[in-house]
Amino acid sequence: MVFDLPHIKKYMDKKITIAVDGFSSCGKSTLAKQLAAKLGYVYIDSGAMYRAVTLYALRNNMIVDEELDTKKLIASLDDVKIHFELNANGEPQTFLNGTNVEREIRKIYVSQWVSPVAAVPEVRHVMVAQQQKMGEAKGVVMDGRDIGTTVFPNAELKIFVTAEVDVRAQRRYDEMLSKGEPADMNEVKQNLQERDRIDQSRAESPLRKADDAVVLDNSHITRDEQLQVAYDWAMERIKSAH
Ligand code: DC
Repeated sequence: MVFDLPHIKKYMDKKITIAVDGFSSCGKSTLAKQLAAKLGYVYIDSGAMYRAVTLYALRNNMIVDEELDTKKLIASLDDVKIHFELNANGEPQTFLNGTNVEREIRKIYVSQWVSPVAAVPEVRHVMVAQQQKMGEAKGVVMDGRDIGTTVFPNAELKIFVTAEVDVRAQRRYDEMLSKGEPADMNEVKQNLQERDRIDQSRAESPLRKADDAVVLDNSHITRDEQLQVAYDWAMERIKSAH
């Protein structure tokens, strides 16, 4: 019950904003979720929002013959309503126009189209505005690709997570198998590398480390160890925010 100590409690009353960015499947979400829970902050998965838009485009015939109809998608953006709710286990679920799409948006056919959709500037403008609104009150940990550079450039703590590509592919593959989804290691690795390439090279807010971000390479450390490192950074920033 450390937080009962008055001096610690004083620090915890002051909430900061935490941005967690990095490559695909490097453990950002796990870290961001655990860090938010430990600090009593709200966790927001910005990638889920781009995935939900992608699912919307797929379901509404905006991706046909391997071609994304950007104009049609842009014209429909007002009809795409995304929100998050916690399920009975306290896990955030993504809703698209009132329907829980949490499982669907993680499937490979969505992953294959999410980077091109996320590269459309108009899509990004709408998503970024919604993300900034969600983080207005601070006390959030948001993970994504451009959180430290574009969404919250003034975040008190910016963490850039990396891991070796083979480690990332293995984690993603294991995750898919554990959910009972069919997975092919080569396909998973190729998809990761292709997404990284598009995410880093797009014109609008590409994936890159913010100059003032701290790097966390988790290739060879456990989840608990990475959480401890990030928590220590967060406590440092919370204290210096006073
Ligand atoms: O974190 P993720 O793998 O669920 O993200 C899915 C895709 O969305 C990813 O390939 C890039 C994109 N994305 C983005 O462009 N900006 C963000 N802030 C978050 C995700």
